[in-house]
Amino acid sequence: MLTQRANNVYYLAARKFCFRRLVGRSSCQLARTLTTSSVCSNPLQPGPSLKDFLKQPIAASVERDSDVPPYFDSLEARGANQRVFFEVYGCQMNVSDTEIVWSILESSGYLKTDDIFKADIILVVTCSIRDNAEKKIWHRLKQLRAMKRKRRDNFQIKIGLLGCMAERLKHSLLEEDRLVDIVAGPDSYRDLPRLLAISSSNQTAINVMLSRDETYADITPVRLNENSVSAYVSIMRGCNNMCTYCIVPFTRGRERSRPVGSIMKEIEFLSKSGVKEVTLLGQNVNSYRDSSSQESASNDVAKLAKGFKTVYKLPKGGLRFAELLDQVATVDPQMRVRYTSPHPKDFPDEVLQVIAHRKNVCASIHLPAQSGNTQVLDRMRRGYDREAYLDLVRHIRDILPGVALSSDFICGFCGETENEFNDTLTLIDEVGYNVAYLFAYSMRKKTTAHRRYVDDVPDDIKRDRLIRMSQVFRRRADELNRRYIGNREVILVEGNSKRSNEFLFGRNDGNLKTIIPVGELPVEEHSNFRKPIRTGDYIMVHVTDANSQVLKGQPLYHCTI
Ligand code: SAH
Ligand code: SF4
Ligand code: F3S
Repeated sequence: MLTQRANNVYYLAARKFCFRRLVGRSSCQLARTLTTSSVCSNPLQPGPSLKDFLKQPIAASVERDSDVPPYFDSLEARGANQRVFFEVYGCQMNVSDTEIVWSILESSGYLKTDDIFKADIILVVTCSIRDNAEKKIWHRLKQLRAMKRKRRDNFQIKIGLLGCMAERLKHSLLEEDRLVDIVAGPDSYRDLPRLLAISSSNQTAINVMLSRDETYADITPVRLNENSVSAYVSIMRGCNNMCTYCIVPFTRGRERSRPVGSIMKEIEFLSKSGVKEVTLLGQNVNSYRDSSSQESASNDVAKLAKGFKTVYKLPKGGLRFAELLDQVATVDPQMRVRYTSPHPKDFPDEVLQVIAHRKNVCASIHLPAQSGNTQVLDRMRRGYDREAYLDLVRHIRDILPGVALSSDFICGFCGETENEFNDTLTLIDEVGYNVAYLFAYSMRKKTTAHRRYVDDVPDDIKRDRLIRMSQVFRRRADELNRRYIGNREVILVEGNSKRSNEFLFGRNDGNLKTIIPVGELPVEEHSNFRKPIRTGDYIMVHVTDANSQVLKGQPLYHCTI
């Protein structure tokens, strides 16, 4: 799945602003530039005046709109060095989108801060997937408003609500006690400079238009954490699947794929910047189809494996996920490639073959099952039954024997009986997952389930089922992870362990968190030269212990994939 981060708010690290554009410079730098130009060039030539810089049009990608009041000069419509603080909730798509937002705002002269008390603008990137995700955000908005009121310059601080909650609740967000000044849905981030310009005159501004083709393909995301060894690359947006419980198709709109050329450019850039792991992102990454690509000869309609179906018409032709994955893997054989979230319906052998043959495409597959019961799966409109899912698991393990599997499950969906729920427990037990994300069902308005079914499983039963799912999952994950003991695993080191500076953590190919002690190691196997273990290094590790959550090991030597 796209991992839920509702509990982990990202307070994003500040990034040194580089004064690339004149409009982003401080007034003294601007003055210095003007002086320099008049001294170095012919002093009799008139240099540019301040007016010339202020009258530059708004960033090319952002359309000027008549909604911008005429009394705004262009400096106000630009960032004019205002500091933005981002607070990101929800899944990785929101993290990736925030990097697009930051790219757009940086081009418009905004600065970024990691100190909320110094911010002129606070942008909260939100999630609507379950009611408790939204409740947390409401609570936070109230705290932010209180904070804003305490500040002496409070009228100047603007609070913007971005992401899925903006799309779900639209105008009602502005009515709600004026908690926010700006509302922008996931497809309207290009419009943010204009929305911010409007809000600077104390008006509220909103754009929640969904688009059929927006992929932000021409915008190079600016990474929020440049020191991280891994990066997210969004390859598609939206979802056509319409699972009956899910709000995402309503908040993120129709499925559309980003052209392969723009993805490859970003991956090449990331590889040159030293990134060691990319995760391709989308709600259904394996339904990827770049129909603008000339590279794929196929003009056929995608075929689904026996036992899988969709509610929408399958696209024809175009470059597919297996081809994309293969191309991405060739950019840098020392850069790991992962992807999330795939849907079980789109696992043709070609994808499995790419994973089997490309060493840097990680052999870990997220296979969100949601339920183990055929009737519940049917009510959820997942497009497969229990048997088709189990057949797929067997097929995947035949081709990729060492694969690590992860999944998402929902308990307490409308009408779920105790017997139906037991099928989920037996499926978790039978398949055995290394990682699982387990949720109690939360009814969302607008979804088919809201129209068609009754949310009739009481909360205490949902809670009880969640605990029981977790127990079965943990027992099996513990067993599976213990099988790694004695193995040699290649770990990509990501940083210090949360618990102690004397330990580092990284991940193996199967995406399992692995803890190792800090220290120096031979630069390669059998070498007498040693160097310290650093973030971004590949290390061969002898696994000595494991539980349902982590592996622990003894680092042996520096290595490559
Ligand atoms: N496209 C991704 C899902 C993104 S949402 C996928 O299909 O894997 C992440 C997970 O949230 C889903 O897989 C599902 O398990 C869970 N989820 C979605 N809607 C939910 C709801 N209404 N209540 C509880 N969990 C939900
Ligand atoms: Fe939601 Fe289903 Fe689409 Fe995933 S595949 S985003 S669960 S509708
Ligand atoms: Fe992601 Fe939450 Fe939206 S899971 S797609 S941010 S509803």
